[in-house]
Amino acid sequence: MLLAGVSFLFFLPFVLASLVNVTIDDQFGDPQTGTQIVYLPPGAWNNGTKSCLGCITHLDPSQLYNGTWHDSIFDPQPSNNDSKLSQIQTASVTFNGSALFVYCVIAHSSSSPDGNSDMTFFIDGEVVGTFSQPPSTGSQPDYQYHVPVYVNHSMPAALHTFALQNGHIGGQESLVLLDSIIYT
Ligand SMILES: *[C@@H]1O[C@H](CO)[C@@H](O)[C@H](O)[C@H]1NC(C)=O
Ligand SMILES: *[C@@H]1O[C@H](CO)[C@@H](O)[C@H](O)[C@H]1NC(C)=O
Ligand SMILES: *[C@@H]1O[C@H](CO)[C@@H](O)[C@H](O)[C@H]1NC(C)=O
Ligand SMILES: *[C@@H]1O[C@H](CO)[C@@H](O)[C@H](O)[C@H]1NC(C)=O
Ligand SMILES: *[C@@H]1O[C@H](CO)[C@@H](O)[C@H](O)[C@H]1NC(C)=O
Ligand SMILES: *[C@@H]1O[C@H](CO)[C@@H](O)[C@H](O)[C@H]1NC(C)=O
Repeated sequence: MLLAGVSFLFFLPFVLASLVNVTIDDQFGDPQTGTQIVYLPPGAWNNGTKSCLGCITHLDPSQLYNGTWHDSIFDPQPSNNDSKLSQIQTASVTFNGSALFVYCVIAHSSSSPDGNSDMTFFIDGEVVGTFSQPPSTGSQPDYQYHVPVYVNHSMPAALHTFALQNGHIGGQESLVLLDSIIYT
C-alpha cells in the first residue's frame, strides 16, 4: 500500500510534464521557445491592440489572450486597389507537440466589419481543415471570443508547422481575427 502510494507520487510529475499546454500569443509568440507567428504578406495584418488606429476592428482586450489580436482582410476586389488585400494572407508558426487549438474571434456582422469567415488550415504544408461561416447579423458589431476554429488531437509528437490562410483565390471577402494558438 505504502509502496504503491510512493510510486504514484514518483510518476506523477512525468505524467503532468507530458501534458503541458503552451499558449502562443498572436503578438508575444511562444513563451517557451521565443518563436513568433509569421504574418504574410508584409503589411496585410494589423497588430491589434486597444489603441491601434489602423485596425479593422476594435475588440475588448479583456476577452483576448494578452489583450491582443491580429486582423487581416482578404478582399478579391478592394475598392482602393490595395494589392495586399487581394493576396492570400497567412499566419504560420512552428511548434513541437501532438495537439493544437487555434482560437479566433468571429465577427457575426455583415458590415463594419464584414464578418465573413473563410479560413483554410495547413499542417506541414497539407490542408487539414477549413472554417467557413457567413455573417448572421446586420451592421451592429457582434463578436464571439475564444472560438476554437481548428483543433487537432492526433498529430505525431514532433516539430510541425501550422498555417492559417485567410480567403482563397476566387473566394469572397473574408476577415480573420487571430487571438492565440495552444499546443500540447
Ligand atoms: C490544453 O488546452 C485545451 C484547450 O483549451 C484543453 O482542452 C486541455 O484540457 C488543456 N490541457 C491541459 C493539460 O491543460
Ligand atoms: C507589428 O509588430 C511587429 C513587431 O513589433 C512589426 O514588425 C510590424 O511591422 C508591426 N505591424 C504593423 C502593421 O504595425
Ligand atoms: C500573457 O498572458 C500570460 C497568461 O496570463 C502571462 O503569463 C504572460 O506574462 C502574458 N505575456 C505578456 C507579454 O503580457
Ligand atoms: C482602381 O483601378 C481601376 C482600374 O484600373 C481604376 O479605374 C480606379 O480608378 C482605381 N481606383 C483607385 C481608388 O485607385
Ligand atoms: C520535441 O519534444 C520532445 C519531447 O517533448 C523531444 O524529445 C524532441 O527532441 C523535440 N523535438 C524537437 C525537434 O525539438
Ligand atoms: C491532424 O494533423 C495530422 C498531421 O500531423 C493530419 O494527418 C490529420 O488529418 C489532422 N487531423 C485533423 C482533425 O485535422
